[in-house]
Amino acid sequence: MRSSERPTVRATSSVCLGRPWICRLVLLALCSAPAPIVCVPKGSIYDDCKKTTDRSGSKTTVSPDRGHLSPEERCNLDGGVFPHPTECQVFYNCSVRYTPEIPRFFEQHLVECPYPQLFNTETKQCDHFENVKCGTRTEFKNGCQYKSNMCGSKRDGINVHPVKLWSPFYVVCYKERTVKEDRCQVDENGRTQLFHPEKNECVSLDMIPRAHGGIMPECGTKVDGFYLDDFGRCDRYVHCQGGKYIGTIKCAVGEAFDVHKQICVS
Ligand SMILES: *[C@@H]1O[C@H](CO)[C@@H](O)[C@H](O)[C@H]1NC(C)=O
Repeated sequence: MRSSERPTVRATSSVCLGRPWICRLVLLALCSAPAPIVCVPKGSIYDDCKKTTDRSGSKTTVSPDRGHLSPEERCNLDGGVFPHPTECQVFYNCSVRYTPEIPRFFEQHLVECPYPQLFNTETKQCDHFENVKCGTRTEFKNGCQYKSNMCGSKRDGINVHPVKLWSPFYVVCYKERTVKEDRCQVDENGRTQLFHPEKNECVSLDMIPRAHGGIMPECGTKVDGFYLDDFGRCDRYVHCQGGKYIGTIKCAVGEAFDVHKQICVS
């Protein structure tokens, strides 16, 4: 399900655009395939979503039942607050955003009401359970069934947050109890770090996949080598190997990366 209006991006500086998330960020439209990187001069208009814009107006024809859409798509179309499809105590809040510089993405929007409250679809708020009609959504009556209470078995130490996946938040467990909820510090450049559930640690946004709200360069389809920085920063380059992102390497002061020579030149 793709429904995009024709988005345009006005470059505020000479930058490279062309990633689908820039479309989403600026216009809340959805672009499918990764677009090629295009450098545009300052002040020009770059139409980033041509490939997916042949259905303009589809926004009004989408059925009112958004059940077939992902939370991310629903947030992009409608915004606001809407219930979780199957669990009565959780909902999505499209306004929740931990990383203002990058697009919102759905895991960040999941919010759980405090036990024993449930999400009231009429008031669009957490409410006393007696006021809430869950309908087909499952109504958990036991506090341990709430994600936040995490009575399950988790190893001691820091663990992924049970509700706020791919967010700055994590929890500290001790003997199957949650003893602390904490958040990642900013990185050495003052930028938001997110908790990576597989690495089980806080990492900078360039180590977080784009699908989860990060800015990790995509190396999956690239042959081993060095590539231009996605954001048009000439003083650094991206190292891809074995289809994986290895890191971003900075050139010496005064040098710029030359993609043809595959080295930094002055
Ligand atoms: C949704 O998130 C916004 C921003 O954090 C907050 O102001 C608002 O109260 C939230 N709505 C609900 C229903 O939690």
